[in-house]
Formats: sequence, C-alpha cells, structure tokens
Amino acid sequence: MKTSDVRADIPLLEDIIYLDAASTTPTPRPVVEAMDEYYYHYNVNTGRGTYALSLKATEKIENTRETIAKFFKASSEEIIFTKNTTEAINLVSRGFNFRKGDKIVVSNMEHHSNLIPWLNLKKCGVEVEIVKANPKGVVNSSDVDDAIDKNTKLLTITHISNSMGAVQPVEELGKIALEKDILYLIDAAQSAGHLKLNVKDLMADFIAFPGHKGLLGPVGTGFLYCDQGLQEKMEPLNLGGGTVDDVSQNGFLLTSCPNRFEGGTQNISGLIGLGEAVNYVKRIGISDIEKHDRNLTRILYKRLKDLEGITVYGSPKNIYGIVSFNIDGINPHDLAKILDETKNICVRSGQHCAILSTEHLGAREEGGTVRASFHYYNTLEDIKVLGDCLEEISNFGR
Ligand SMILES: Cc1ncc(COP(=O)(O)O)c(C=O)c1O
Repeated sequence: MKTSDVRADIPLLEDIIYLDAASTTPTPRPVVEAMDEYYYHYNVNTGRGTYALSLKATEKIENTRETIAKFFKASSEEIIFTKNTTEAINLVSRGFNFRKGDKIVVSNMEHHSNLIPWLNLKKCGVEVEIVKANPKGVVNSSDVDDAIDKNTKLLTITHISNSMGAVQPVEELGKIALEKDILYLIDAAQSAGHLKLNVKDLMADFIAFPGHKGLLGPVGTGFLYCDQGLQEKMEPLNLGGGTVDDVSQNGFLLTSCPNRFEGGTQNISGLIGLGEAVNYVKRIGISDIEKHDRNLTRILYKRLKDLEGITVYGSPKNIYGIVSFNIDGINPHDLAKILDETKNICVRSGQHCAILSTEHLGAREEGGTVRASFHYYNTLEDIKVLGDCLEEISNFGR
C-alpha cells in the first residue's frame, strides 16, 4: 500500500497535518467498518452465550488474539487484552507481590506509565533505582548492569522514549536480564507498529503494547505479552465475571490464562477493530513503515538542526519516529498553538508525561518540548510545511 492509499482511508487527514502519532493514531476506514459491523449486526457480549451471535463475537475477539500473536511471533495464550499500555504495565507491577527488600531497575527516560507503577511500590518497601541515560537520551547497558544487585527482581525500560524518540538497547538489556535471572519488561508503546518486533528476539518476560498508536487500532485497546508460566504466577487486576471456573462460599477457582486477567465485559468492538488494524498494518508492510518513518525522522531532524534559534533533542543516529524541539524564548505550548492556528498542524507540547526525561534533556524549566511524531500516513509535504513554519517563527523578530 502507498501512503496515498492509507491517507484515502483516513478522512481526518484532509484538513489537518497530524504529527501526533506518539499519542494516538487516527483510525483507518476498514478498522472503523469492522467496528460498525459489530454494532450493526452482532452487538452482543462475548464468552457468556451459547447462541450463534455470541459465539460469533467471541470468535472475532479470539481471532484478534491470534492475529496479534502471529504478528509478534508469540502464541495466542501469551496475549492478554488490556485497555491500554498503562493497564498492561500495572498488571505486572501489581501482579507479583513485590515486597520490602526487592529492587526494581528502571530508566529516567520512561513515560509516567512505566515509572509511577514502580515508584508506587516504594510504599511497600521496594527499592526503585532509576538509571540515567546518556546525554543523547540512550541508557548505557553497563549502567543498568551496575544497578542490578542480588535483590533486583525486575528490570524495565521503554523501547523508544516518547519524549524525544531515543531508541533504547532493549536486546542488550534482555541478555543482561537473562544472565542475572531477573524479570524483564519492555514498554513497546512507541515501537509497536513502527518497527518489526519479535517477542522472542526481545527476550522480555513482559511486553506492554498499545493498540491505538502504531498499530492503528481504536482507542481503548492494548495488550500484554506474557509468557504462560509467568501468567500462572501473576495475580489478576480485575476479579469478577469471566475470571473464574468455580465459586463456593469459601472461595473461587480461577479460570485458565489468559482469560483470568480479562475480568468483566471487554471492549469488544475495539478488540475486533484491533484485529482489523493489525491486518491493515500487515497490508502496508512493517518494513515499509519503518523505512518511511526513518526517512521522515531524518529529514525533519536535519531541517531543524540547521535552523538558528532551534534546539533539537537527541542524536539522528538514535532517534526514530519522533522529533522533539524548542524555539528559543517561546513556550512549547504557545508554539504548538501557533502551529495549530496558522497551519492546522497538530503536535504535542509540554512534558509528555515524562517529566524525568524532559528534565534530563534540560527542557523541564522551559515547560518541556514540542514533539512531532509520525506514521506511514505522513508525507514529505507535512514535514516541509512544519519546517517552513518553524523557520518563519524562529526568524521572526531576529
Ligand atoms: C512510552 C509510553 N509508554 C506508555 C504510554 C501510555 O500508553 P497508553 O496511553 O496506551 O496507556 C505512552 C503513551 O504515550 C508512551 O508513549
């Protein structure tokens, strides 16, 4: 599929330049149609009925599990549906009874969704060591190695930093986690649907995924990859309907994995849409997406780096899919508003839910950064319009 084909499936892009894929992506027509079909023709609950429509809805969401598993080279039992990446991470942080004396190692480049769930464990006496990235925003494996001690139970890192796009050495860290025999969680919020991912190569015990970002799925969808042996040791977050096989006055018997983690009525239409979205990403081709995103990242980085009065964060060798910047003397929110009001350019501004990381970049005091992030539907023209506009603003009053 060409970029123009994908754009034709996303009417929203006719009126705006959307450069906020890192937050969420617009939903292509076939994904919306799959959800519409559910609502119009088989809008019933899953897993509870024996009638044909209920079986059909159940089969559809199980097909999504299978599609996701195949795409990431996992088995379908290893995929637990969640409502977003944050819920997938909380499932792990709350599911393992981490306690006093345990240590968790995490980086300072994390989105709050992969930091707060760990910091929250401090109240149970868990030590949390935050490893600082280098000036390019990349964590050195040797620093992580040094931080791991005999009490360390889990290492976690974001694959790509959401504040500035720095790609972290997740495979190298996977080897360290394996050697040290500790649990390893990767936050794939910014890499899923952007890079070819194979869960086995990543060597992680857990990988937290959004459905609604790079995979082009609907909002309210995400999932956790988790090895089946570990699922048996993990406590569910939500107990209730759909999570048990038997109940007595004295207790209950949990149902098998992964269903025991999916309490209550699921986001059925969203999950059906997610399956369609993964198929859509497959039709575009993940290698083509990667080539396209890399090119746009490189071109925008270079264009901005050459402009006077603009700071661009990170190094072009290490960033992917995201370019973060500031113009001297302009608050990032003001700049984002100017871009929106003058050229209908949608970019994110502020701390990007990653305060430690903007602090690391030296941008916390400025109010954070402005962030442009891409997907396959973005064009060279989008990048040019943004670059021209920023050039004009930075020259203004000079
Ligand atoms: C790196 C990273 N982790 C976690 C999240 C949280 O994702 P979600 O909104 O799917 O919970 C985000 C959201 O932008 C992110 O960029």
